[in-house]
Amino acid sequence: MPDYEVHEHDVLVIGAGGSGLRAAIEASAQGLSVGLVSKSLLGKAHTVMAEGGVAAALANVDERDNWEVHFCDTMKGGKMLNNWRMAQLHAQEAPDCVRELERWGAVFDRTQEGKILQRAFGGHTYKRLCHVGDRTGLEMIRTLQDHSVHQGMSVYMECTISRLLKDGDKIAGAFGYFRDDGRYVLFKAKAVILATGGVGRIYPITSNSWEYTADGQGLAYDAGADLIDMEFVQFHPTGMVWPPGVRGLLVTEAVRGEGGILRNNKKERFMFNYLPESTRKDYADDEAEAERWLADTLSGKLKTEHKRPPELSTRDNVARAIYTEVKEGRGSEHGGVYLDIAYQPADRVKKKLPSMYHQFKDLADVDITAVPMEVGPTMHYIMGGIRVDADTAETRVPGLFAAGECSGGMHGSNRLGGNSLSDLIVFGRRAGRGAADYVRKVGTAPKVDEAEVQHALNEMEAPFARNGSSPYELQKEMYKIMSEHVGIFREEKELKIGIEKLADLRKRVKEVSTKGTKAYNPGWHLCRDLQNMIIACEAIARSALSRTESRGAHSRLDYTELDEKQGHENTSVFKEGDEMKLTKTHLPEMPQELKSLFEKKEPAHA
Ligand code: FUM
Repeated sequence: MPDYEVHEHDVLVIGAGGSGLRAAIEASAQGLSVGLVSKSLLGKAHTVMAEGGVAAALANVDERDNWEVHFCDTMKGGKMLNNWRMAQLHAQEAPDCVRELERWGAVFDRTQEGKILQRAFGGHTYKRLCHVGDRTGLEMIRTLQDHSVHQGMSVYMECTISRLLKDGDKIAGAFGYFRDDGRYVLFKAKAVILATGGVGRIYPITSNSWEYTADGQGLAYDAGADLIDMEFVQFHPTGMVWPPGVRGLLVTEAVRGEGGILRNNKKERFMFNYLPESTRKDYADDEAEAERWLADTLSGKLKTEHKRPPELSTRDNVARAIYTEVKEGRGSEHGGVYLDIAYQPADRVKKKLPSMYHQFKDLADVDITAVPMEVGPTMHYIMGGIRVDADTAETRVPGLFAAGECSGGMHGSNRLGGNSLSDLIVFGRRAGRGAADYVRKVGTAPKVDEAEVQHALNEMEAPFARNGSSPYELQKEMYKIMSEHVGIFREEKELKIGIEKLADLRKRVKEVSTKGTKAYNPGWHLCRDLQNMIIACEAIARSALSRTESRGAHSRLDYTELDEKQGHENTSVFKEGDEMKLTKTHLPEMPQELKSLFEKKEPAHA
């Protein structure tokens, strides 16, 4: 049997995007020994795909903004299914976390008076998105990375964790391998923070790159944590649709925040037709009012009294609208719709959206200052994830914490754009503190069970000795099942077929095989990744079947309305033996002082 190297830390952070870096900085600042594991090279994270801004009620551009309005917007955007405590902490702490980034060197765009500039985004009542052109996530990662490397933590790059290890019910460490040469590694740790991001790679069209294979969700589930609200999958309305090699690549919502207009092949501004009755009053429902908002924005008048354009409706709504336009034959040449910013001065477009300009020019040979872009929905984010305590980020497994996209609850049934970046820094910081407090409390190091380590090692070796299916064939099947049966619109018949197919696929994933050596062998890596992805797929499909209503990003063709009763229930899946069990848990009651905010304000989105 191959050997493995051993490292020991107080806190092991798995995932080095925004939440992982922020958690690692915090735990390290508390004087603990921290190991930071990155599946990729440090700095490469889905965080950079949140381009348009980080949401924080700084009120730099519109003094009417404050945490209470941000809280109400977030809850309304999530159709009230959010963990209210997380949404409260998020809205209250985001401004401080953004200022902290600024102190650490993040170079935000500025207002005339030198304050952090904020822009409009879907579902936010006021201009709230602090940004760096259309490279906000990138700047955040750069800042956090710079700050973290001065903290003295150990960074393990190109390292994938395949198993969490426990001492009784408590976390004791993790086992994994290095992707370049396949050598194994055991991390002993008193606390583990999962910050592995999302599950995007279970769908064929996604803004997520290869790393996002549901690792944290799968590891936590196998270790005894529960996953909540997995039915809520966010399809970002605007991904590239052409050329095929870049299909799904994100086209930032900032394009619409800066005045981008969506049209179908009949040149109709179709979003006027898709404003839900409950939100109609908050958006311009004719061209004239939309033009007034635009005129203010283009003239540099930051605060506007005019109603926002319909393109800034919430993501769930815009994605469904685009999907419907294409399905009903009003789509663009390559199966999307048109997003037009070319009517604006070319200099402004290049200044506000430099990455989009280069992305389309370099990848599609399209000049977005001259012609409209073609865009369509792309799987971008999952609202559901590992259930955590709002204040400490601890899961139900003692010593196991989770933050960022791999955790659930914060965004309810639909996330507002820009709330992911603020989520990462607010709950990354809280997870770092939570883990540090836990480590101080447990004191002595847990014992790592050698048999568990051997089991983890054997599991990794097994695909070389088997003669099963190729992981790539199974991955293709998974894509087909998820896009055909568990896509944007769902219904009972299709979901049941999907669940049956996934159960069969799960059996074959257990027998998957690979060839070659362990050096640079992505086929071997995929063998293990598929196990986590199948957990996520089944969790999504089963949770979607159980929710017999349409809410936020979960759209049922056979149950098209909101159901009041189900609005108080989280869906929860967990492992019992080898079975996935599903249960409904009641949302905690919101305290009166938070409830009254909804009476006081008129948040824009329901
Ligand atoms: O469109 C975007 O820039 C993405 C932002 C987000 O997902 O929060």
